[in-house]
Amino acid sequence: MSSEEMYIFYHGLMLPKETHCSESLKFAQEFTFQDNDVVAVTYPKAGTIWMQEILPLVLNGGDLTPIQTIPNWDRVPWLEEKRLAFVVDQLASPRAMVTHFPHHLMPPSFHTSKAKVIYVMRNPMDIMVSSYYFHQMAGFLEDPGTFDEFMEKFLEGRVLFGKWTDHVKSWRHKELGDRIIYITYEEMVQDLPAAIRRISDFLDRNLSEETIQKIAEHCSFKTMKANNMSNFSLVPKVYMDADKSPFFRKGVAGDWKNHFTSEQLAQFTSVISKELEGENFSLPYLD
Ligand code: A3P
Repeated sequence: MSSEEMYIFYHGLMLPKETHCSESLKFAQEFTFQDNDVVAVTYPKAGTIWMQEILPLVLNGGDLTPIQTIPNWDRVPWLEEKRLAFVVDQLASPRAMVTHFPHHLMPPSFHTSKAKVIYVMRNPMDIMVSSYYFHQMAGFLEDPGTFDEFMEKFLEGRVLFGKWTDHVKSWRHKELGDRIIYITYEEMVQDLPAAIRRISDFLDRNLSEETIQKIAEHCSFKTMKANNMSNFSLVPKVYMDADKSPFFRKGVAGDWKNHFTSEQLAQFTSVISKELEGENFSLPYLD
């Protein structure tokens, strides 16, 4: 398949046709956010599916029913993808969604609502590595080519949802105030119960230590990899082929060290650091 057949462009962003269409994007633009909605925002491969597991558990006091009976894409649907229109009326309240949209593409109702946002950041080198393997296993994405070729595309933003730096910068918007928390994939890897506690406090859920531990166990890499409602084993092989690379691939921080040469690392960090210059946040893991 040619790239024209695989992707559509929306406000300059490249999106896969398999999961996005003009109707789903219109639905997203006209979507009415409610004040008690929760949206997890991620650049692709930063930890989206992880949040689709954590949020229902936190919002429902650790009740396992949603994660054991509803596929992740219908349980916490993507704002911009095709499934939302089908499941929106069945979402439990408070509703939880995910999105890869940059801030400026959120619908008008998002800006006037009090919906809460959890922005998940991840080391961009690890994002790129994860994405590189994902492009090998996902039949609806272009072959990534060599690691060098893919790095060039990644740095130029010729990848899904554009440049990583534009995405993270867009979600630093002043308008968001205390409606948003920033959480990193790395802190979730390091201490998942602590990250879940942060999320639960932000969402005004008063979860006991025992419930937090239970949620953390069910959201571990190993448990999620075995959960058929989350591991994409329900998706036909032609779309996602775990034999080429499993969706739950490594689940660690720092796998970039096994992939980047020192030249690639120098080029990558120089471009990214320049694009983040003047931003009032630092990414310690870029050093
Ligand atoms: P790797 O490819 O580095 O293993 P997304 O959901 O945004 O597409 O991100 C996918 C990445 O998140 C993959 O990274 C996947 O393994 C990782 N991931 C998903 N659930 C995880 C968990 N419970 N613990 C650690 N990593 C997880």
